Amino acid sequence: IPVEPFDLVVFGGTGDLARRKILPALFRRFCSGQMEENSRIIGAARSDHSQDEYRQMVAEAIAEFNTTSHCEAGTLDAFLDRIDYVHVDAKGEEGWKTLADLMQPGKVRAFYFSVAPSLFGDLAERLHTHGMADSDSRIVVEKPFGRDLETAKALNDVLAQHFHESQIYRIDHYLGKETVQNLMAVRFGNMLFEPLWNSQYVDHIQITVAETVGVGGRGEYYDRSGAMRDMVQNHLMQLLCLIAMEPPAKFDPDAVRDEKLKVIRALNPVEPADIVRGQYGPEKRNGPDYISDVENPRATSESFIALRVGISNWRWAGTPFYLRTGKKLKARASEIAVVFKETPHSIFGPEAGRHRNILTIRLQPNEGMDLDVTIKEPGPGGMRLIDVPLDMTFADALGPDGEEVPDAYERLIMDVIRGNQTLFMRGDEVEAAWAWTDPIIGGWESRGDRPVTYEPGSSGPEDALALIHRDGRRWREIR
Ligand code: BG6
Repeated sequence: IPVEPFDLVVFGGTGDLARRKILPALFRRFCSGQMEENSRIIGAARSDHSQDEYRQMVAEAIAEFNTTSHCEAGTLDAFLDRIDYVHVDAKGEEGWKTLADLMQPGKVRAFYFSVAPSLFGDLAERLHTHGMADSDSRIVVEKPFGRDLETAKALNDVLAQHFHESQIYRIDHYLGKETVQNLMAVRFGNMLFEPLWNSQYVDHIQITVAETVGVGGRGEYYDRSGAMRDMVQNHLMQLLCLIAMEPPAKFDPDAVRDEKLKVIRALNPVEPADIVRGQYGPEKRNGPDYISDVENPRATSESFIALRVGISNWRWAGTPFYLRTGKKLKARASEIAVVFKETPHSIFGPEAGRHRNILTIRLQPNEGMDLDVTIKEPGPGGMRLIDVPLDMTFADALGPDGEEVPDAYERLIMDVIRGNQTLFMRGDEVEAAWAWTDPIIGGWESRGDRPVTYEPGSSGPEDALALIHRDGRRWREIR
């Protein structure tokens, strides 16, 4: 279904995020017929490029980063026709009049701030002084949204000077992932799970986001953040919220975000003994390690973190949530596992072994879910039990000719145009997440704790295994 015609201005239009994610996502939506004839995308950045040069750059970005096979020949040229470029100085006057003149009256206006947060205030102010933003315009901002509570509040304040909360779309791209949305569908669209979704029936929950890549060329940014700021405060926190929240009355932005906020506010502080931080060691003998990747011999940030987290409310009191994320691990595998308790009594006796149901939500790759169910081992050998997965891989559900699983940015950008904030973070949510994160980081900083080294290609530091073993549980294998 096409969205209303729009003008989307991408500040930072020549940057990495624009090239890797935003422009290819827009191209795919264009291929799917979702962009009306008179919608336009305007790249805006500091560097001086002609229209043709920018279009060429967009074409190259699409060639490099677009993965879809569903575009007809000739579509790229038609897409490039929708693209303009303006050289704009965020801190000066250059380019703003040209940009204002390009805006089409009567269209949805969205401004994507794909730039350093230090420029948010300048951009917001100039959009207003040049009369480009009205009360229906939308602005889109990306993480990092602050590096602690204080800086996040300052950013919220800067944006609030010119925009109402209902106009601000804070992206956490994990919320745009198909499986993450499916989590809500599974929980609140089925009768089957919700009655069991509490500490009475759930033994524990594991959230794993494992990556094989290292910090790549982002060492400078990454080392200022570490995995806690880069992944846990936002992506893992969002997953935790969707898993743990109460059913919202409606699938609407404030109803959903109110419930997520309650989860964040109910999170317990994390004891030092419930945290393991790691840094990857050298790849092969003498290969680059974390320290050399971030080019800082004194780097103390973590490229891996595991945490045991508790939620103080009626639903979850006593159920541990084990979170872990890291780089240079053995596989790229992100999943949430809801591990149910064992049956209260086994009628089959001790020889049948111990069994329990596990609902695994695979975020990537191979998006889907499976539910481990205990059945009788087929054959005449008596009553022996085995666990078999009921497998629902989304690609299968879509069918062989179905569309590919869309990238998170496709969904999120179209939601901006539709004016639907359900999958975006509200200002108070981000602040609450920092309010929980700050003392944890402050704790290890004041104690001078250093991350332990782990081997690239492993499952993370040994200590992370111990973190869960001491509770008589084990991590699911990363594969
Ligand atoms: C980003 C982090 O937000 O998410 C990166 O800054 C991380 O460090 C990335 O690699 C992971 O996203 P995805 O979609 O590949 O799981």
